[in-house]
Amino acid sequence: MVAIKDRFAGKVAVVTGAASGIGLAITQRLLLEGASVVGTDLHPIGVTDTNFVGLTGDVTQEATAQDLVAAAVQRFGGVDAAFNVAGGSRPGYIVDLAESDWDFTVDLCLKGVFLGMKHQGRQMMRQGRGSIVNIASLNAHVPMHAGSAYVAAKAGVEMLSQNGALEFGPFGIRVNAILPGLVQTPLTRRHFDNPDALAAFQARIPMGRPAQPDEIAAPAIYLASDDASYVNGASLLVDGAWGVSAYPDMRPFRGPIGWNERTHA
Ligand SMILES: NC(=O)c1ccc[n+]([C@@H]2O[C@H](COP(=O)([O-])OP(=O)(O)OC[C@H]3O[C@@H](n4cnc5c(N)ncnc54)[C@H](O)[C@@H]3O)[C@@H](O)[C@H]2O)c1
Repeated sequence: MVAIKDRFAGKVAVVTGAASGIGLAITQRLLLEGASVVGTDLHPIGVTDTNFVGLTGDVTQEATAQDLVAAAVQRFGGVDAAFNVAGGSRPGYIVDLAESDWDFTVDLCLKGVFLGMKHQGRQMMRQGRGSIVNIASLNAHVPMHAGSAYVAAKAGVEMLSQNGALEFGPFGIRVNAILPGLVQTPLTRRHFDNPDALAAFQARIPMGRPAQPDEIAAPAIYLASDDASYVNGASLLVDGAWGVSAYPDMRPFRGPIGWNERTHA
């Protein structure tokens, strides 16, 4: 995919979960498009660029959200775009799930986004402009075995984003959500390490493959850019049409498509 050079020239972005997967891809693409970026993560962020500052912090702690915005203001003069990406889960069936595992997942995926938006929103209100992109999931719409805490948190992120659009819109601030399907990152490594599990996923995805992290980063950055100046409160599914494929694959029972490009040219 081609980065749009200078689209973010002179702009400042903050990214949570910037050390890996989608957050790292967003960070790298923002830098390619000319932004200055402050990233935060539990783990050190392996990005070396003169326009990048890396912090370590836990997004479930309010101080992390405050520090991220403060660093962007101090080092680069403000926050034009914010990406709340950090996430993960401790899965378990509802009847087995420990309260502490529910809290871990919901705090990370939902409270972490709330705390980020709170401090990003305050700074953007001071500026009178800004754009926030939250990474939810297709699981905001589609349940998953042993995923109750995660799907509930991701549905919460989608609604939280819409509430942000409602509250921040009058201040010139947009808030949108990306709902990725299956993306090949360390988070989903166990699916990729198991050929049967991967085949089961791919059978559901009309495009027949997972996304690479940059295929989520590109639409996320579009939503934060001026190209999306009137897109607000939107949820963008980026899932290779997985979300529309709940019906079983009936092709084996119907036969192949009859139209043939050689006979219908
Ligand atoms: N990979 C997928 O298939 C997929 C699909 C839908 C949604 N998502 C969402 O995309 C986001 C990014 O996931 P990914 O696939 O890139 O995963 P990843 O594991 O590659 O990256 C997640 C990053 O978040 C960081 N992180 C975890 N807990 C944190 C905390 N408490 N504070 C700060 N940072 C923390 C991790 O250290 C890691 O660097 C997550 O919100 C995830 O739920 C991923």
